[in-house]
Amino acid sequence: MSRSVVTAVSDRWEGALVTTLERETDVRVARRCPDLADLLAVAGSGLAEVAMVSADLRSLDRTALDHLRECAVLVVGVYPPGDETAELHLRQLGISTVLPADASGQVIQEVLDAMQGERGQRPNDVRGLDGSGSAGPGGPDDLTESPRDRAARAVAPAGTGAGDLDSPGVIIAVWGPAGAPGRTTIALNLASELAGLGQPTVLVDADTYGGCIAQSLSLLDEAPGLAAATRSADQGSLDLSVLARLAPEVCPGLRVLTGIPKAERWPELRAAALEHVLTLTRRLGRFTVIDCGFSLEDDEELSYDTLAPRRNAATLTSLAVADRVLAVGAGDPIGLQRLVRGLQELGTVASPSPVVVINRVRASAVGSRPERRIREALVRFAGLEELTFIPDDPATLDRALLTGRSLAEAAPDSAVRQCLLALASELCGVAAPLVGRRRNGSRQKSA
Ligand SMILES: Nc1ncnc2c1ncn2[C@@H]1O[C@H](COP(=O)(O)OP(=O)(O)OP(=O)(O)O)[C@@H](O)[C@H]1O
Ligand SMILES: [Mg+2]
Repeated sequence: MSRSVVTAVSDRWEGALVTTLERETDVRVARRCPDLADLLAVAGSGLAEVAMVSADLRSLDRTALDHLRECAVLVVGVYPPGDETAELHLRQLGISTVLPADASGQVIQEVLDAMQGERGQRPNDVRGLDGSGSAGPGGPDDLTESPRDRAARAVAPAGTGAGDLDSPGVIIAVWGPAGAPGRTTIALNLASELAGLGQPTVLVDADTYGGCIAQSLSLLDEAPGLAAATRSADQGSLDLSVLARLAPEVCPGLRVLTGIPKAERWPELRAAALEHVLTLTRRLGRFTVIDCGFSLEDDEELSYDTLAPRRNAATLTSLAVADRVLAVGAGDPIGLQRLVRGLQELGTVASPSPVVVINRVRASAVGSRPERRIREALVRFAGLEELTFIPDDPATLDRALLTGRSLAEAAPDSAVRQCLLALASELCGVAAPLVGRRRNGSRQKSA
């Protein structure tokens, strides 16, 4: 049976292209779409196996291309012969298969055969075959990578510099259930400690409910940050230098992509665009630390419109592309119960298995010897093997917040800071300097 192709190509080239397709290839042109809306509708109805789109198709962006991908449609970009700008634009949108509009039938046939051959070899993976821009298995935005491969990559020796294209950085998503267990505090200070250990790090605020990294570091609320980066990614204009401008260095080795200034702007953080931003932050820093929102609900399932923005897409995308996930729970009875339920939910979404961090550990909330009590409870109710404890220290945290500084700057000798330094040191494999290091930090693990 012949393959069905749909076109959404500017008038100037469409007639000749369709004639070439029909006369010189084995494909069947199922529809000539006048605009993107028509193309997406046809893709949604399952009528198209391949879509040929031109660079000047109005509103063509990463989100639309992601939708085509979800409909299992392979995408070929078509640009006016000799127009390098248009060709580049298609590639920046993540379309890896591009052809000049006057390509011969033989060339088109070979390209389509190769694309479908690739898909046949990886039947469950439509990513990267259709112009997703993925770097393939093991590449920086390859979601099909096995957890074991991810883990191996995540503990690879540190020390390669930022911007090293051959050595993509590691993404750490900091998640935790509702109830303000300390996601932002952990993400911010972990990023700051990684930077202090000589690991160029990008801190990303992807919380679509209450992002506050900018305020926590006394940065300008109006900073364009992540919203501008995802907009630019959606439109195909984001590259490393643009991203570097949007994520300024706030202290040596630490760049920050601030979050949306108002929670109501959450529709701006679209999944496909954020995924591309994170692909690039891997090249900007040895580590990317993401402050995620709490909700894991897949709002797509609640909506019939699969193109509608999803509030939790930012968190779900961050977790899916992450190499490591920190699950933060508050060290009190309610926080621990939420954590246990949250971990069950986390187990149902695409993400590596988490490192569990219990924050704000204090005897007044759970009784004497709080770490032992919490461990016993979590072994019993969640079968957790390994825990990291961070003590409760409101005075120190308040001081840091008041001055808009990290704990390393505001309270370098505090126990809470030393625990975060130890956690960062373990994650990056670089020993923390001995100076100022406490011998009896509260960070402990159970075997
Ligand atoms: N170890 C700690 N000791 C004392 N206070 C802490 C500790 N960790 C966090 N806090 C405080 O708890 C409050 C909530 O922390 P944070 O904002 O990091 O939580 P969150 O999980 O990001 O919350 P949200 O749901 O608002 O995003 C803040 O005032 C912070 O200073
Ligand atoms: Mg927060």
